[in-house]
Amino acid sequence: MVKSQQNLLNLIKNPTSAGYAPQRLLIEDTLKDLLPPPTTTLARAMAFATLGGGKRLRTLMVLESAAAFGVPQSQALKVGAAVEIIHSYSLIHDDLPAMDNADLRRGKPTIHRQFDEATAILAGDALIPLAFEIFSDPKTHPSPEVRLHLITSLSRAIGAEGLVIGQMRDLEREGKTESHSDLLQVSLGKTGALFGFSTEAGGILGGASVEDLQNLRKFGELYGIAFQIQDDLLDVEVSSVVSGKTTGRDEALNKTTFVSALGIEGARKEFENLITQAKKIISD
Ligand code: IPE
Ligand code: IPE
Ligand code: MG
Ligand code: MG
Ligand code: MG
Repeated sequence: MVKSQQNLLNLIKNPTSAGYAPQRLLIEDTLKDLLPPPTTTLARAMAFATLGGGKRLRTLMVLESAAAFGVPQSQALKVGAAVEIIHSYSLIHDDLPAMDNADLRRGKPTIHRQFDEATAILAGDALIPLAFEIFSDPKTHPSPEVRLHLITSLSRAIGAEGLVIGQMRDLEREGKTESHSDLLQVSLGKTGALFGFSTEAGGILGGASVEDLQNLRKFGELYGIAFQIQDDLLDVEVSSVVSGKTTGRDEALNKTTFVSALGIEGARKEFENLITQAKKIISD
């Protein structure tokens, strides 16, 4: 197993790993360059949501997967930053009163609390096209085919068959029990799909084969579902001070989660099971 593959596996066990501090600084600088100057309320809300926090896990996955294919770090950073921008939009909307109605994110007020609800909706809206603009910029990658491939793949990951349907089904299932396969399917949409894109993106930049791209995406998807299990466990196991989010939220909202469906021990077992499957795929 090459170093970047091992690093990816270590990241899920220790997502805040200090070993990545230099990369996190580079990600922050790249995001600052790409975001609009903070001269309007809208731009300030976008910056508030995107800068100065977050584990940057999806971007680190782009960097590690790109490194496995010998892609220059400057290219991977731009693509990773675009993923981070999409992730930030998804968190702004996830926290809105109409969705999870959360007050705290990354130890700070959520955007609709810091600004107001309309600004939060619009800041999320403005982040989405920014990511696509980055992908379509020749400075991100010289090949139009590669840029188009990134755009198509991201569109599929975050749209009506990816992140958004996952979020929709997450709301629809509140208070309900669901089958094991539905449990996996909803998390695949809301969380796994963007992780899948993150690992695939490094391969797209590096001209990987169709088979490698499929394996990279599958690995990221399984990893993302496992990450959602960890997030569901954190919601019941740690304080808000540690997580930076209002914890106990899932139970208060009557959310269906891996913990509500499988119990704490069952959720931990499912996590290990997914990581074992992910390891097998990445070693292929
Ligand atoms: C939170 O993601 C949303 C989930 C998919 C569980 P992260 O835990 O990666 O959020 P940040 O970016 O580190 O704050
Ligand atoms: C969020 O899942 C998934 C997305 C943002 C797409 P959660 O609702 O569990 O995330 P947190 O716990 O609020 O970060
Ligand atoms: Mg949610
Ligand atoms: Mg939430
Ligand atoms: Mg959660």
